Amino acid sequence: MKNYLYNISGGSPRSLWPSAIAAILDGIAKIIPAALLVDLFNTIYVSFAHPEIGLNTNRMWVVCLILFAWLLVEYAAYASLYDKTYLAAYSLSATGRLKLAEHIRHLSLGFFGKRDPGDLTNLILSDYGQVEHTISHNVPQLISAVVLPIMALTGLIWLDFRMALVMFIAVPLGVLLLWLTDTIQARLSENHVQAKNEAASRLQEYLTGIREIKAHNMSGKRFERLRLSFDRLKQASIRLEAIMGPMIMGAMLLTRSGMTLMIWTGSYLLVGGSLSLPVFLLFLLVGTKIFEPLTIVLMNYGEMRYSAYSAQRIMDVQQEQTMEGSADVTAAHPSIIFDQVTFGYEAQTPVLSGVSFTIKPKTITALVGASGSGKSTVTRLIARFWDIQAGTIYIGDQSIRTIAPEKLLQHISIVFQDVYLFQDTIGNNIRIGKMDATQAEIEAAAKRACCHDFISGLPQGYNTPVGEGGSTLSGGEKQRISIARALLKNASIILLDEATASLDPENEAAVQQAINALVADKTVILIAHRLKTIQNADNIIVLDQGRLVEEGTHDKLLNGQGIYSRLWHLQQQAEGWQVKT
Ligand SMILES: Nc1ncnc2c1ncn2[C@@H]1O[C@H](COP(=O)(O)OP(=O)(O)OP(=O)(O)O)[C@@H](O)[C@H]1O
Ligand SMILES: [Mg+2]
Repeated sequence: MKNYLYNISGGSPRSLWPSAIAAILDGIAKIIPAALLVDLFNTIYVSFAHPEIGLNTNRMWVVCLILFAWLLVEYAAYASLYDKTYLAAYSLSATGRLKLAEHIRHLSLGFFGKRDPGDLTNLILSDYGQVEHTISHNVPQLISAVVLPIMALTGLIWLDFRMALVMFIAVPLGVLLLWLTDTIQARLSENHVQAKNEAASRLQEYLTGIREIKAHNMSGKRFERLRLSFDRLKQASIRLEAIMGPMIMGAMLLTRSGMTLMIWTGSYLLVGGSLSLPVFLLFLLVGTKIFEPLTIVLMNYGEMRYSAYSAQRIMDVQQEQTMEGSADVTAAHPSIIFDQVTFGYEAQTPVLSGVSFTIKPKTITALVGASGSGKSTVTRLIARFWDIQAGTIYIGDQSIRTIAPEKLLQHISIVFQDVYLFQDTIGNNIRIGKMDATQAEIEAAAKRACCHDFISGLPQGYNTPVGEGGSTLSGGEKQRISIARALLKNASIILLDEATASLDPENEAAVQQAINALVADKTVILIAHRLKTIQNADNIIVLDQGRLVEEGTHDKLLNGQGIYSRLWHLQQQAEGWQVKT
């Protein structure tokens, strides 16, 4: 139970207090009018049973007045507690959602490789919604269903213990039945949540990949995957309802049978003369009041179990370790040192093995190597998207692990292999480099990145919206926008991943010019497949299957007769190739 409450409140059971108090007061509020009604009935009953005493109208007036006053009190208490209960639930889920999103931002990218994006969206929206509903609705009901019968039982035992006993005798049986089915319920809920997430992920995959699906004519295959996942969800839903339904109904029937038993015993005792009519009536009134919340709770039991699993999923992510380190980068232009760095996206398959090199401030370093040799990985490690498994990376004289990832990124501009643009205006996409940039600053950066002309040529200029991921712009245009972004950021370290790949010569010249503007006076790490573009680099690092195999200037490496000189000669030949017509 303790565990359950802990889970359901997302690890802060204290936040359940307002709703607990509200529920208990609500319980008392429901019993008092019942007791007053019985007193009213008793007064009338006495006047009939003993006509010589007559009707005590004063007492009736007092009871009516108290009943009326009680209504007002109940209303006032309700209004304020209601607010508090819902406020607790909704603020818990609003701040909780934001906190979770913030927490996720601090996790290493490795975490995202393990989870489907659809799964995370579901977690933040749907699982949180589930827990929120349970806290605002089901928990108060659960508490009142526990507190009310206990209070009623203690009161009624004094009045007539035989009646009280019959009334409650079946409750433990109902609870026992639920308790016995708990494991089944937990497993069914887990199955259902998993099937739901799977379906959401497949749907997301289907919708975001629609371009590739069309291009490769895969609609049949992908659609089949989607259909299968919806099928599984249907099965899980049916199983959840079909198996749990009868069990919950059984528990409900068992519990409610106490009421019937009590009526039967009451009539018997009444006829036998050992029970007075007012006491019997009191039992009837209280009975209907307490079996009502108990039934509702039993009906909601499945939902609460389900929420506990949702809450567990939320807490699992909350407990995922964020990257350590809180320091800022101290040097204005830090060097970058890899010291025996070993890293793999999966710990058991290293992508980089024992790599060591030093990048001096304000120099240009090129990374060269075959596809898959680990070039992009080196740049991702410098930006600390992942933590390494062995060795040390130094930024200046600080180990990268002591630096807060977001502070590190303030010193780094990245132009990725595949540029991502947000669904916003072009101007705002450049502004990401510096959130408080003025329009003039944005335009200056765009001019230096050689994209001002094409942007001004668009009908809405800088206010032109970009489709999600930049789908409405050409590859070269996107790259120049991302270079403008990097220029605006003006960071001391620049990571350029194959910025000139797959561009036509005219576009490439423009991008090259943009890059030249970007790298002036900066520490640059550059990846380019075309070795011509990196001839002037201060240092060239050659990677082969995750190992550093050569290092030096263009001239030195060319003389070395190693991988670099082979690649160079191959590319020189390829330049001379012509398609014969
Ligand atoms: N997110 C990832 N998860 C798992 N493995 C990855 C991931 N990214 C890259 N890899 C693997 O790590 C290895 C190195 O990849 P990397 O992207 O660094 O190569 P690269 O030298 O940049 O290649 P290219 O020239 O094709 O861009 C490859 O074998 C690749 O399959
Ligand atoms: Mg790469």
